[in-house]
Amino acid sequence: MIDILLGLQWGDEGKGKIVDVLAPDYKVVARFQGGPNAGHTLEFDGKKHVLHQIPSGIFREDCINIIGNGVVLDPIIFKKEILGLKDYNIDFSKNLFVSKKTAVIIPTHRILDAAYENAKGKSKIGSTLKGIGPAYSDKISRQGLRLGDILSESFKEKYEKLVNSHKQILAFYNHEYQLEEAEKEFFEAVEFIKGFNLVDGEYLLNEQLKAGTKVLAEGAQGSLLDVDFGSYPFVTSSNTTAAGVCSGLGVSPSKINEVYGIFKAYCTRVGSGPFPTELLDDEGERMRQEGWEFGSTTGRPRRTGWLDLPALKYSIMLNGVTQLIMMKADVLNIFDEIKICTHYKLPDGTITEELPYDICDIEITPVYKTMKGWATSLAGINDFEKMPVELQEYTSYIEREVGVPVTYVSTSPDRTATLERKSGL
Ligand code: GDP
Ligand code: IMO
Ligand code: MG
Repeated sequence: MIDILLGLQWGDEGKGKIVDVLAPDYKVVARFQGGPNAGHTLEFDGKKHVLHQIPSGIFREDCINIIGNGVVLDPIIFKKEILGLKDYNIDFSKNLFVSKKTAVIIPTHRILDAAYENAKGKSKIGSTLKGIGPAYSDKISRQGLRLGDILSESFKEKYEKLVNSHKQILAFYNHEYQLEEAEKEFFEAVEFIKGFNLVDGEYLLNEQLKAGTKVLAEGAQGSLLDVDFGSYPFVTSSNTTAAGVCSGLGVSPSKINEVYGIFKAYCTRVGSGPFPTELLDDEGERMRQEGWEFGSTTGRPRRTGWLDLPALKYSIMLNGVTQLIMMKADVLNIFDEIKICTHYKLPDGTITEELPYDICDIEITPVYKTMKGWATSLAGINDFEKMPVELQEYTSYIEREVGVPVTYVSTSPDRTATLERKSGL
């Protein structure tokens, strides 16, 4: 069976940490969408690691990691990531498999990303500029390159054809760029990737499932950045929700079992787009500093705000979440009072729990419930039942509101600070 772990907010919920924590229970960890726009952080033995395209089960010796066909892969970043792992003696020939159907990001995709963003001016998406949108666009418009193509004799030809079409667009946008150095790096990385297991990922996964193996699908980004259900156009270019697992790995929905939904005890967002509970004041800045909310991929400061229950309920509904994991509870240690948005007030005075279609164009006023904070450190508490009563109440309130059990609570970046909790539901 396949369990899924995915983010319920705008990304950076702590997926990398939790996949690493859960990985010993799984034989396979597979990424099904996204690409190097992701930055998944893991911490253990006093060291921090950020993974972009390689699944977060890579540090667990017995875990097979698969990059699925739904991913867009940048070979240059792949090579850097692999070289960055050289101190860990990972046997990639046993532990890492990449689907031949994975879409390839080429250097002009990144340049196109920048050209499109520049052209948008004030309404820019705030993309990570990793070429994600252009690479997915080429896939959907049936002119993209797939990883398996690098093994074909006509790869260079296919590549040139695609680059030429990109050059025409870039000329239209009057966008200046340098390509030579990046192209050289790209072709070196393509040769490098040939040394890895390039496979028919859908067969590999289905064979594993047939043999009764437990598979964990690792989401990237968050449900509120989903191309269909996020605050379009301020979204990423893939289905980040559970639905993306079947198409992104080549598996049947009947194989899906548990859906772990992961959320921060508050909210963050990086890039543009609506954020109803955003704190633009000193409280927001304190939250950013305490949570060290700076992008794992781009280093950009993340926008911060209180927990948004209408948005959380929406994500839970879209994904069919069966268990919740609450992250970064420790960041709220600094507040005497904690707010939770329970409803939205729309410009016409309507109070609603639903995300309005025109969320990008209207002013939403959050309706808050205020709870007493615990205002104390959580360090060294290894048992959820020994947590301050205010944190227990905060957690129980959330799970009662959304109707799904919170089964884990995380209180620091380290692997070990992940407490199992007996749900009250
Ligand atoms: P991902 O993209 O969902 O994997 O999340 P990121 O790695 O981009 O961002 C999460 C950040 O929060 C990372 O810096 C983690 O090390 C950190 N983190 C994860 N869990 C906790 C936690 O419980 N408490 C604190 N303070 N930091 C955490
Ligand atoms: P992980 O997996 C947070 C955001 C960008 C931008 C929008 C579109 O680490 O949670 P893109 O580069 O995809 O064209 O950017 O989506 N974004 C993320 N925000 N975490 C991520 O990944 C993100 N990946 C993309 O900031 O607003
Ligand atoms: Mg991240």
